[in-house]
Amino acid sequence: MDRREFTKKTVKTAIAAGLVISSPSGLFSKQSSKKKILGLAGSPRKQGNTDTLLTTLLDAAHKEGAETEKIYLIDHHIQPCLMCEKCHENGRKPCFQKDDFHFIAEKMVAADAIVIASPVYWITVTSSVKLILDRAYSLINQSLAVSLTTCNSILNGKTGAIIVCGNSKDTQTYGEPLANTINHFYRWMGIQLAGKIVASAGFVKGEVADNEIVMNQAVELGKKLAVSG
Ligand SMILES: Cc1cc2nc3c(=O)[nH]c(=O)nc-3n(C[C@H](O)[C@H](O)[C@H](O)COP(=O)(O)O)c2cc1C
Repeated sequence: MDRREFTKKTVKTAIAAGLVISSPSGLFSKQSSKKKILGLAGSPRKQGNTDTLLTTLLDAAHKEGAETEKIYLIDHHIQPCLMCEKCHENGRKPCFQKDDFHFIAEKMVAADAIVIASPVYWITVTSSVKLILDRAYSLINQSLAVSLTTCNSILNGKTGAIIVCGNSKDTQTYGEPLANTINHFYRWMGIQLAGKIVASAGFVKGEVADNEIVMNQAVELGKKLAVSG
C-alpha cells in the first residue's frame, strides 16, 4: 500500500468513526470547540517571506488554542475556471473538473477562518492563488449573472485574513491592490475580513523575519483569529 492509499484508508476510517469533517486528510476534529484556521500558502518559495509570516500567524494562533493547518498551493494541481456555469445549473453543484481543488475546497469548508497568503507578482497574486479564487466561483450559491450586487457561498459567515509580501517599500502601489483583490473575493463569498498584513518584505528568501513590525502584526492577527475564528 503506498502513502496516498494509506492516507485515504486512514481518513475513511476516521470519517466512519465521526472523527473528522472533511476528506481526504481533513485533520480538523469534529467535536472540538477550538477555532480551526486554514492557511493557504500562495508562494512557490517554501520558507520564503510569505510562508514565514503565515507560519508565524498560525503558530501564534495555535499557542492561543486554535487548530491550524497550512496548505502549500504549489503542491497541488488545479485547473483554471472555465466559466462553463455547470456549477450553477439547477442549483449549486461541485465543479465538474476532477483535480485537487476539491481537496482544498473541503478544507475551506471545514475551517472557521481562512488566511490567504501571497507574494506580490506584478502587482497581483501568484497564479496558484488566482486559481483558487477563480475555482471558488463554484462555491458561490448563484451565478454572478443572477446576483449582481451581493453574493454568498458555502463559505458564508467564515472569517478571513490576508498576508501580502512584496519587495517594494511602496506597499500602497504594489501590495494594496492584491489585498483588495482578496478582500473583494472574501466579500463575494460572504467571508468577514478580520485583518490584513501588507508587508514590504524584501527580496531575499525569509528576510522578512528581521522585520519586527510585520512579524508582530502576524502574531497579533494569529491571536485574534484564535479567539474570533
Ligand atoms: C515574478 C515576480 C514578480 C514580482 N513582482 C513584484 C511587484 O510587482 N512588486 C513588488 O514589490 N515585488 C515583486 N516581486 C518580489 C516579491 O513579491 C518579493 O520578493 C516577496 O518578498 C517574495 O515573497 P516569497 O519569499 O514569499 O516568495 C516579484 C517577484 C517575482 C518572482
